[in-house]
Amino acid sequence: MATTDNPLLTMTEAVTGYAGDEDVPDETFRDTALPGFKQALTARRSIRVFDGEPIPEDVMRDCLRDATLAPSSSNLEPYELYWVRDSTTRERLAEACLGQPAATTAGELVVVMARRDQWKTNLDKVWDLMTQGGTIDFPEPVDDYYHKITPRLRQTDALGLDNLMRRVVFWFRGRRGPTVRSPVNKGDHRVWAHTQSSLTAMTLMLSLTAHGYDTCPIGGLDKVRIRRLLGLPEQAEVTMVIAAGTRRPEGLYGARVRLPYGDLIKEV
Ligand SMILES: Cc1cc2nc3c(=O)[nH]c(=O)nc-3n(C[C@H](O)[C@H](O)[C@H](O)COP(=O)(O)O)c2cc1C
Repeated sequence: MATTDNPLLTMTEAVTGYAGDEDVPDETFRDTALPGFKQALTARRSIRVFDGEPIPEDVMRDCLRDATLAPSSSNLEPYELYWVRDSTTRERLAEACLGQPAATTAGELVVVMARRDQWKTNLDKVWDLMTQGGTIDFPEPVDDYYHKITPRLRQTDALGLDNLMRRVVFWFRGRRGPTVRSPVNKGDHRVWAHTQSSLTAMTLMLSLTAHGYDTCPIGGLDKVRIRRLLGLPEQAEVTMVIAAGTRRPEGLYGARVRLPYGDLIKEV
């Protein structure tokens, strides 16, 4: 195997040839997948008034499972989805969503939490799953990626010394050539976790839409109250709450508005 000092390239070489059991898109895939995908994408609108009817449990579980198929950095899945089913907790959650009608009328509420504090727990669990309890050997570069590089990036201490050390290392490495530049502060760790949880939230909304239900992402809320309501530590942060259910006609507030293509998409 060719050697390189770029761990990502070394790892790519080490694992080339993997054949999984996923659907591999072939020439018929586009014909079957694209119409449904476009339909779900365009059908999804933020709905602010629901009829209050619950979504069947099996549908919710299917959608929540779909949400976990979202990609995540190093596959660490640093998020949790709290499907709030207890009626008292739901009431208090809707209150913490500032009493917005989307929350008070929803059939279901899911809190999407970013869990930057869980990188190590999840890393150990993911490694255990990948290696099937340590019975499968992975090539050294993969082992290094999970046990040397990822901890070097993710670990933080109370005094911020890990962040400081990374800042110095990245600065020196950056002078030599392309290198990662973060995380070097608490904000970077927070963004990292919220990035993964947001992808999961979007996947959940699209799955609910494809199952025939409406959603509303809610960011206008009291994050601290919700975190406390769920009994979570300070490092756990609410990314958003997703309200879901069946719309009332008045729940659609207006026609879809989007900026022109060229404002958002730059072909460079
Ligand atoms: C992170 C996030 C937070 C949002 N917070 C709220 C909210 O608190 N209340 C609300 O009514 N809509 C909220 N929305 C919905 C947006 O207003 C909506 O997505 C936008 O107007 C576009 O409309 P569409 O979703 O129907 O395409 C939020 C959307 C996102 C992505």
